[in-house]
Amino acid sequence: MKVCVVGTGYVGLTTSVCLAYLGHDVTCIDLDERKIDTLRAGHTPIYEPFIDQLLEQVAARLTFTTDYAVGVPGADVVFIAVQTPQLGNGSPDLQYLRAAAESVAQHLAGGLTVVVNKSTVPIGSGNWVDAILREAYERHHGHRPDGQFAVASNPEFLREGNALHDTLYPDRIVIGSDNQASLDVLSQLYRGILNQSFTPPTSLPRPAALGAVPLVSTDLASAELVKYAANAFLALKISYINEIAAIAGAVGADVAEVARGTGLDARIGSRFLQPGVGWGGSCFGKDTAALVATAAEYNLAMPIVNAAREVNQRQRTRVVDRLLDELRIIKGRKIGLLGLAFKPDTDDLRDSPAIDIATLLLERGARISLHDPVAADRFQREQPDLAAHLTHRIEDVFDDADAVVVVTDWSQYLDLDWDKFLPSMRCPLVLDGRHCLSADRLTELGYRYLTLTGPAIPPRSNA
Ligand code: UGA
Repeated sequence: MKVCVVGTGYVGLTTSVCLAYLGHDVTCIDLDERKIDTLRAGHTPIYEPFIDQLLEQVAARLTFTTDYAVGVPGADVVFIAVQTPQLGNGSPDLQYLRAAAESVAQHLAGGLTVVVNKSTVPIGSGNWVDAILREAYERHHGHRPDGQFAVASNPEFLREGNALHDTLYPDRIVIGSDNQASLDVLSQLYRGILNQSFTPPTSLPRPAALGAVPLVSTDLASAELVKYAANAFLALKISYINEIAAIAGAVGADVAEVARGTGLDARIGSRFLQPGVGWGGSCFGKDTAALVATAAEYNLAMPIVNAAREVNQRQRTRVVDRLLDELRIIKGRKIGLLGLAFKPDTDDLRDSPAIDIATLLLERGARISLHDPVAADRFQREQPDLAAHLTHRIEDVFDDADAVVVVTDWSQYLDLDWDKFLPSMRCPLVLDGRHCLSADRLTELGYRYLTLTGPAIPPRSNA
């Protein structure tokens, strides 16, 4: 099929590369010329494992342009995957979506084009985009757009860092439209994924247990709400285990064991029960805020979702509280932070817990040293106020430190030669903010091991 994707961020680019891999001809449009030049040169403007290799493999079926006239006329499907940043009141800023829809409408030509909202948009946006397309089409073409387009919603469930895997091997595909023809077009577009008939890329083998992928084909509003309901549920699952972690610490239980014992109930499931500094990123914070904002428009309160947000924010302050418990005085202490990205395998810093934690520590008068194996350069650009505390040398984080906090569970930190760095610390305290290190191993080496809950475990040698 002939596909056009507007926006080359995580969602747009992953969608483009995967659809090209399935054999479709894909044109990617972005108004940012630098991004398009980078892509034309065979590089990706985002950090995402395996995307460079796959991009190279499907290059013949991908076109990159800043010009809507190249991609939209004659397209079977146009995906709009532009950014929808959060406004001050919690609702998303839809100016880029509006501009993209207007440009698409001007260039629509040929038979039916399905225009798909791939950006996470408030419930009801499908109708809103439909109205914008209709008005812009009439303005530009001078007649009504009868049968020229239909709007659909196709929410995205990919995780950054696993974007290609999640797109090729999803748990489900959700498509929503009030127009049957567009539902048919989209199920045809995704046929290769739905029946898993493609040959897997060598770097991304198909999970052994994966069978046919379920398709949820529904109306527009339901598809839009699925996205919010899913993200809010995942967010509250994390906040729930963090709330349980607090009581586990108080009663002397091991939260990791509690999470395991709880998650093995198939009705609950063990994923997204990893306790720690909580969620960050561009999605959970923004989407839970948007859900609460939409509910308010209908005079509905969302106490569960609000509580999940509150618990998540509290986890960031807990880091400082725990350091205070152990060190008594923070002023003048040196605290090293390992990990700045909101999670491993991405350089994304949006709403990253590390930014709040670093800021809180500085407010308390601490000296800080910040490290990330991938996101450091981006941090330099996006966080100029904190960038002076960055280091590219991991030994600087430990040198003379009173504590080191693991904020992001990068595999590099799990596999670190912890033995080597201990002697250079002033006080060998490790706060494992992601429950990702072995307490046994670290205390054996001579570290004092701390999590956000429960008492610190003293070094074995001194115990
Ligand atoms: C999330 C959803 O998982 C995707 O399904 C969705 O498509 C995406 O948002 C989106 O709306 O675009 P993402 O934000 O990339 O994906 O990352 P996740 O893997 O979900 O992690 C989110 C945050 O939760 C990270 O900061 C992670 O460290 C934290 N987390 C995750 C925990 O603290 N505990 C866990 O058990 C799992």
